[in-house]
Amino acid sequence: MKALVLSGGSGTRLRPFSYSMPKQLIPVANTPVLVHVLRNIRELGITEIGVVVGDRAPEIEAVVGDGSRFGASVTYLRQDAPRGLAHTVAVARDFLGDDDFVMYLGDIMLPDGIVAAADEFAARRPAAQVVVHKVADPRAFGVVELGTDGEVQRLVEKPEDPRSDLALCGVYFFTSAVHEAVAAIPPSPRGELEITDAVQWLVTAGADVRAHLYDGYWKDTGRVEDVLECNRHLLGRLDRLVSGHVDAESELIGEVVVEPGARIVRSRITGPVIVGAGSIVQDSQLGPYTSVGRDCVVTGSRLADSIALDGASVTGIAGLRHSLIGRSASVGAVTEEGDHVRLVVGDHTRVEVAA
Ligand code: TTP
Repeated sequence: MKALVLSGGSGTRLRPFSYSMPKQLIPVANTPVLVHVLRNIRELGITEIGVVVGDRAPEIEAVVGDGSRFGASVTYLRQDAPRGLAHTVAVARDFLGDDDFVMYLGDIMLPDGIVAAADEFAARRPAAQVVVHKVADPRAFGVVELGTDGEVQRLVEKPEDPRSDLALCGVYFFTSAVHEAVAAIPPSPRGELEITDAVQWLVTAGADVRAHLYDGYWKDTGRVEDVLECNRHLLGRLDRLVSGHVDAESELIGEVVVEPGARIVRSRITGPVIVGAGSIVQDSQLGPYTSVGRDCVVTGSRLADSIALDGASVTGIAGLRHSLIGRSASVGAVTEEGDHVRLVVGDHTRVEVAA
């Protein structure tokens, strides 16, 4: 069995971050989403992984390399433009051959793993098996309707009036039967080859299509709010590990990770918190639910429920919450007289200040 990981796309919902980095590299608990994805795939014993990339290929390759650090062999498959999830299967046709494969969106988090789903697929080996998750409001998702025997009867994209609460998670198991489906479907009204149409094609053709119910934590990290929520969840699973330096005037409470080379000076850290390698936290209060990347500087600040990406600095800010701070971005207090705010803000940035 092989794996196909989708790491192209445009990432419009994650602007401005997706201007400067592929969204699959956004860190959750200081590890890129794509690395979490690859670990889940390795847990299945799969070693041949195709990674679909768009124009962000070099950055993805810089992190994933040839896959050897995950004990896998990675083949990069170039998609010229985001032409749909099913289009990536066509792009990967030669790589996949006639093997079974798991297709996994590179921006979703399933921290409870997909071993049970893979086992179920291997035991029954239907033409296709979609992984679904029960959601309170299915209208924003691809929704799967099941028959009495658990077989997939219908897939509907973002239904206004959903007949089921089972949303597609972004993980699909396929036999080579999917290739005929992908070749047969036309582009959707938005001009993409939709994987839901390919799976529906198999259902209509009478193929055995099943659904596996994943009942662990699931998050599509497509928007900033989702990234922060997912970060909170993952930090909730953190175990204390202090490798960096913590001075005698600092206090660490609860599950705190201080990576090698990080320094905590005269600060109070309330876990769960992770401070990345080489970062300095000084005269500050951090946490809970906060990830600070590598080589960041936090001084004279209070930061909670937030993520600072590598190289970011936060200086003299007394109450920063629910924030995602980009790579090497600098957030600081005004030192001049007066109660103004000074901003140097890029395209599609969002700033929320006290009214
Ligand atoms: P989406 O999040 O559905 O699409 P997107 O990346 O274009 O994001 P946005 O809606 O914010 O513009 O894609 C799911 C995953 O699949 C994501 O990791 C990107 C990847 N993908 C491809 O690799 N090729 C494609 O043609 C598409 C549409 C997505």
